[in-house]
Amino acid sequence: MKNAIVTGAASDIGQAIVRTLVAEGAYVVLADNDLETVEAVARDMPGTEAVHLDLRSADSVRRVAADIVERLGAPDQLVNGAALCNGGSLQSVDEDTWAQDLDVVLAGTIRVSQALLPAMREAGHGAVVNIASVNGHGYFGADAYSAAKAGVLNLTKTLAAQYGPYGVRVNSVSPGTVVNAKRRRQLAADPHALDRATEWYPLGRVGVPQDVADAVVFLLSDKASWITGTDLRVDGGLMAGMPGLAEALGGSPDA
Ligand SMILES: NC(=O)c1ccc[n+]([C@@H]2O[C@H](COP(=O)([O-])OP(=O)(O)OC[C@H]3O[C@@H](n4cnc5c(N)ncnc54)[C@H](O)[C@@H]3O)[C@@H](O)[C@H]2O)c1
Repeated sequence: MKNAIVTGAASDIGQAIVRTLVAEGAYVVLADNDLETVEAVARDMPGTEAVHLDLRSADSVRRVAADIVERLGAPDQLVNGAALCNGGSLQSVDEDTWAQDLDVVLAGTIRVSQALLPAMREAGHGAVVNIASVNGHGYFGADAYSAAKAGVLNLTKTLAAQYGPYGVRVNSVSPGTVVNAKRRRQLAADPHALDRATEWYPLGRVGVPQDVADAVVFLLSDKASWITGTDLRVDGGLMAGMPGLAEALGGSPDA
């Protein structure tokens, strides 16, 4: 049985990843600073356990990592999915606000990598997926969060190159807009809340957590055994091009 750790497991995307890994037969540790939610999820899902993890604290990360490695061994699969997005432009947010995004998203992923990758290296195998974002590839708002996600994309390549020789693969997934708890609340108040965003997606819809989970679990699986250092965009075609712009420019003769 494979041991997996999913950070940010309280989120909708995190929970979808956990469910999919469990269905594939893995034992999954749900790590999040929202302990109440991960405990509730783990209670209903055999083959899982919940732990409190605060990515802002190197001590917390080291403690949780050491405990997991001691009890379960080095993880076979690791998903860095926790994030914080305070949003806003660099002109509109103060230092404390943008620094929190960088601390959780980028420094948090570095802390977890430092704490767990040496054990995976020693084990001689393992797969990591970092959840990045289309925001790491271009401008979609949330400036500090986006800069941090761009850092995660670079970190993924660095770790892939460094740990590849030891049998550890490191990839990332870049989701576009995915319906999460916040968006579900928006949609409950207004079923058309995402209509304007949907227009930008060539596939005609925004994402659901399972779209991301399927990509993550593929990259963690042995089916991806010769894939490392890559980013898989799960974005309904958002980054492929802009049909609205093509139309504004006179359209494509083939479309
Ligand atoms: N939803 C989207 O549209 C979207 C788009 C692109 C990328 N993503 C990425 O997918 C992942 C999950 O997204 P979501 O929208 O479901 O997430 P979300 O924002 O709803 O949840 C983030 C999770 O991280 C946890 N977290 C926050 N700070 C933490 C800390 N200090 N220590 C430990 N855990 C902490 C939260 O408790 C929560 O469970 C994130 O990495 C996010 O950046 C989401």
